[in-house]
Amino acid sequence: MRVLHVVGARPNFMKAAPVYRALASRGHEQILLHTGQHYDTLMSDVFFSGLEIPNPDESLNVGSGSHAQQTASIMNRFEPVALSRQPDIVLVYGDVNSTVAAALVCAKLGIRVGHVESGLRSFDRSMPEEINRLVTDQLADVLFTPSTDGDENLAREGIAREKVFFVGNVMIDTLIRFLPKADEVYPKLKADLSLESYGLVTLHRPSNVDDESTFLPMLQALDSLSRKLPLIFPVHPRTQQKWSVQLAQCSPNLRPIEPLGYLEFLALQKNATMVITDSGGIQEETTYLGVPCLTLRENTERPITLTSGTNVLIGRDWDLLKYHFYEALKGGHKAKALPPLWDGKAAERIADILTRQYP
Ligand code: UD1
Repeated sequence: MRVLHVVGARPNFMKAAPVYRALASRGHEQILLHTGQHYDTLMSDVFFSGLEIPNPDESLNVGSGSHAQQTASIMNRFEPVALSRQPDIVLVYGDVNSTVAAALVCAKLGIRVGHVESGLRSFDRSMPEEINRLVTDQLADVLFTPSTDGDENLAREGIAREKVFFVGNVMIDTLIRFLPKADEVYPKLKADLSLESYGLVTLHRPSNVDDESTFLPMLQALDSLSRKLPLIFPVHPRTQQKWSVQLAQCSPNLRPIEPLGYLEFLALQKNATMVITDSGGIQEETTYLGVPCLTLRENTERPITLTSGTNVLIGRDWDLLKYHFYEALKGGHKAKALPPLWDGKAAERIADILTRQYP
């Protein structure tokens, strides 16, 4: 079987890594294609080395742009590669623009598409990712879900059951594999950042960081909480570009730093008193790690992290944020329970299913 993996943005890399490895061990031919949606060294290259995945065989170098420009540019540049490489199946990951763009190209060329991390829904179509999820799942020929809510969502949308496989969470495969290495890097990180107890913050969703009326009160709330617990804030380029002045003016306990590599960020998550975030993947990672996660969003496409995990939705309610912040400080947060099949073997299941389909 010849498999072409499409990755493009930071959260894709840790999802593709274990699938690539599992297919390699079964002797399949593989092509790794990077669209270039993320391109800064700290947003891309460090993940290839950190996650021990080979350099891309194909790079489309699309860069940033509006949603239409970026999606169109990926489609334009991907089509000739898909035609010349003739894969048996193209695997796309998650919900970024690279995911939907590649799925659209393949659907029109009659190339089979597999969607890894299928079926998640926030039911909020103002999120670009929700549009990407809905469209990709309609186009995919084989759909791998991380949790059973995904299977239910796909059934409700009329997707044939026989195309859907509940395999577990590939992101957790990567976490389990790299946790020992993250433990190794932690002492140096702790010394470099002079860490004692701390909370970890990430914010990059357009709905949180694009508008002053949303972002500045959020920053103010975090600034005030940081007097009780220092907050380390690795800043996404989207957030940095817009708010560098305001970030620099925060009190010293709210500490903006550059984006981190995979191992470093994992080490910081594991040792944090709590994480405050608007990321999807981090809601899952904190659930696995048993670290309280305060999510600054009104909804989540990962409801299992609320029902089984350590996640709470805060929205923009700063009193609620304060309440859960102090609960987490006291150690009064929800206990962790691992969702089914978040066991480090999701990619192996995917590789087995694909191998059965293409012996
Ligand atoms: C994208 C994904 C989002 C994911 C996030 C993870 C979509 C629609 N969004 O959002 O789902 O959670 O990645 O990080 O696909 N930029 C740089 N350097 C880079 C990449 C981006 O400076 O390497 C800046 C550019 O100004 C760019 C902006 O960040 O315009 C946003 O990048 P983009 O890829 O459009 O979206 P993200 O916010 O990163």
